[in-house]
Amino acid sequence: MICDNISVNEKGHLTFAGCDTVELAEKYGTPLYLMDENKIREHVRCYKNAMQKHFPDGSLPEFASKAFSCRQIYRIMAEEGIDIDVVSPGEIYTAASAGFPMENSFFHGNNKTDADLRFAIENKVGHIVVDSEDELFALDRIAGEYGINQKILLRLTPGIDPHTHKKISTGAVDSKFGVSIETGQALGLVKKALALNNVTLIGFHCHVGSQVFESKPFTDASEIMLKFIADVKEETGFAADILNLGGGFGVRYTEKDPVISYADKIAEVADIINKQCAALGIAVPRIMMEPGRSLVGDAGMTLYTVGSVKEITGYKNYVSIDGGMTDNPRYTLYESPYTVILASRAEDKKDFTATVAGRCCESGDLIQENVAMPKPRRGEILAVLTTGAYNYSMASNYNRVGRPPVVMLSGGRDYVAVRRESYEHLCALDE
Ligand code: LLP
Repeated sequence: MICDNISVNEKGHLTFAGCDTVELAEKYGTPLYLMDENKIREHVRCYKNAMQKHFPDGSLPEFASKAFSCRQIYRIMAEEGIDIDVVSPGEIYTAASAGFPMENSFFHGNNKTDADLRFAIENKVGHIVVDSEDELFALDRIAGEYGINQKILLRLTPGIDPHTHKKISTGAVDSKFGVSIETGQALGLVKKALALNNVTLIGFHCHVGSQVFESKPFTDASEIMLKFIADVKEETGFAADILNLGGGFGVRYTEKDPVISYADKIAEVADIINKQCAALGIAVPRIMMEPGRSLVGDAGMTLYTVGSVKEITGYKNYVSIDGGMTDNPRYTLYESPYTVILASRAEDKKDFTATVAGRCCESGDLIQENVAMPKPRRGEILAVLTTGAYNYSMASNYNRVGRPPVVMLSGGRDYVAVRRESYEHLCALDE
């Protein structure tokens, strides 16, 4: 199996985190998101321990909560003692209302409105990652109104292409995010930030892209960022305390994705960063990383009930399920690969090939194509693996389909972290 939390029991049912998925589907109904709490904690500890071991004191992962945001995940991150990355007032509200210590949060985004900045300050967000000159001046003005001094990082674009899907690549010079080092605008912005009274610059941020399996995009980015940090020090005397390298490593959606050790990759990145800093004659800054996908991706699985099985003689077969692009838009958006397993008969011969189609009135509403599986029967349970990241958080109510619940699994226990959306929820805001 692609992850060690997945197995098959004596009934031939797929198990996840030690629980029988067919029984969970019966208990909670489908579609159903499952999250393996212990797997999340295992990944968090792996990043945290490796970063504390290989990087200077105070280096920590931040959970990029855009990957999966609900109150319970912020409680887990608070218990594990790591920071969070938030990108909207909605994420700030969710985290703060879950009791997350907001001084340990970093607020990102390429277009934070004045209202967003006020909301962040009122909720005591620890760090604001400033994305542009406009935002820098707006934040200084607003922080002044509140009579506070706000810690900031500047988001820069190192000009790296991580060879990932173009819609999830962000570090290029012409990206909508951040300020370019290459054009000289980043240095100009540092000087402006240092001259302001209501913000304190503490470091720099960059993010190259998502679903990256090698350390090279990170070390390429750190080379450019550290050189910039050295230049800034020389030019202005400002020594950056934090270098934030952005999102984490990739996850295994299918057997084709490599098995990597996050701890080993972090050690590789640290080794190069230490050498780069020595060569530049600067102290190694605190290093932050913002893994989202790799903390929660393989901790998730989605269960569906099979509806109609349609064989178009001489063409193709469709297996339709009771969810689709509303709970997982990633195939529709990115043609993202997924592993699909017939959970009810996980060990039967896979002698049928089908396109797994969602229930929406839209031809592009597919979860995966060319899936080999035993020919399913109406009512059987189908599992889509590695759905913990960017599934629930990107879910929609298209066709007025309610979002599935999120059930957490922990040491053989199952509990609801997010309830199923009801018809009343769907109409709650309608006049
Ligand atoms: N930090 C920043 C500034 C980011 O923009 C992102 C992701 C992350 C951290 C987390 O990256 P991760 O560790 O999860 O790779 N919806 C897309 C992914 C968009 C990622 C956007 N930024 C998907 O479903 O693949």
